[in-house]
Amino acid sequence: MDLLKVKKNDVLLKACLKEPVPYVPVWYMRQAGRYQPEYRAIRQKYSFFEISHNPEICAEVTKLPVTQLGVDAAILFADIMTPLKSIGINVDIVEGIGPVIENPIRSEKDLEGIRLLNPGNDIPFVQETIKILRDKLDVPLIGFAGAPFTLASYLIEGGPSKGYHITKGFMYSKPHLWQNLMARLSDLTISYLEAQIEAGAQIVQVFDSWVGALNSEDYHQYIAPFMHYIFSELKKTGVPTIYFASGATHLLKEWNELPVDVISLDWRTTIEEVRNQHIDKALQGNLDPSLLLAPFDLIKKRTKAILDQGKDKPGFIFNLGHGIFPSVKVDTLKKLTDYIHQYTRKDPVND
Ligand code: CP3
Repeated sequence: MDLLKVKKNDVLLKACLKEPVPYVPVWYMRQAGRYQPEYRAIRQKYSFFEISHNPEICAEVTKLPVTQLGVDAAILFADIMTPLKSIGINVDIVEGIGPVIENPIRSEKDLEGIRLLNPGNDIPFVQETIKILRDKLDVPLIGFAGAPFTLASYLIEGGPSKGYHITKGFMYSKPHLWQNLMARLSDLTISYLEAQIEAGAQIVQVFDSWVGALNSEDYHQYIAPFMHYIFSELKKTGVPTIYFASGATHLLKEWNELPVDVISLDWRTTIEEVRNQHIDKALQGNLDPSLLLAPFDLIKKRTKAILDQGKDKPGFIFNLGHGIFPSVKVDTLKKLTDYIHQYTRKDPVND
């Protein structure tokens, strides 16, 4: 049967589950975006949400880096604010800034709008995009969502923030409201990820990009119970899960206790340092994305150091320590992907 001959690339799925792999799989956070001339051309015609709400265009944008770079996964093109926008929160993505919220949350009344998703009504475009992609891709499709703290930071600050002072002030001074907000955002996140999994997402990543702003005591008290709840619910689906934050190396011991499969590291630590702390999850990471602007020899040297620490233990995925930014060259990422595959391939003859 011809169907059986179709070679599907499941290397990333295997790495998430710490199974043996023929080479280290690689994908990049923000692998679809403005560093690609093709994406910029599409953005000339459509806004961010016009792209993500149109399944045909969204599937094309999601698939482009897979074809262009040869990476081992696609990640759904959407934003962490997509589910909030879909339940009627007034959010806009402003170029060069990020998500901006018209009416930041201040009181109990403002929480009422944060409700569960009804996938058929609220995000039919997400499910349709995923279905199109599952038909077209020969690599796994990663679904994703923002984690409650990171979503709350935008909802409370009204946009990006440096110190998250309003968010933390809210957390310390209105503990009941905070619990209520976290519970609502947790349920929203679970319903959003379950809808992606039901449509065909094969791995899900939870982005808690800004939670490193908290110390481990506050993380333990105000955040960990909700992350535990989210990953426990996701575990029931059988789909591997990944958890990412930037600047959160001090929270790794907390993360190791969560029922999550993969921890995604930023560049401020090394794979070796993390393993030495007895973190036993599969690991993803962690090249500093700024290095993508360095001469290729230096990129290669730093990448090799990461691979040498990661590749010989099961459960390692190469990625960046945070997302690609617009001034990176497509060709640099293509060369990097080829190098990672070639350097770590165990059996070039028979694979
Ligand atoms: O990784 C991918 O290729 C999938 C798509 C994706 C986007 N946002 C598309 C996007 C993913 C996974 C995200 C997640 C996201 N969004 C996070 C978590 C990851 C991280 O970077 O920490 C966060 C914090 C956001 C919020 C957000 N949305 C920011 C900070 C920005 C960038 C603002 C800017 O203009 O530089 C956005 C907008 C955004 N999300 C863009 C893309 C491709 C750029 C939008 C454009 O085309 O103008």
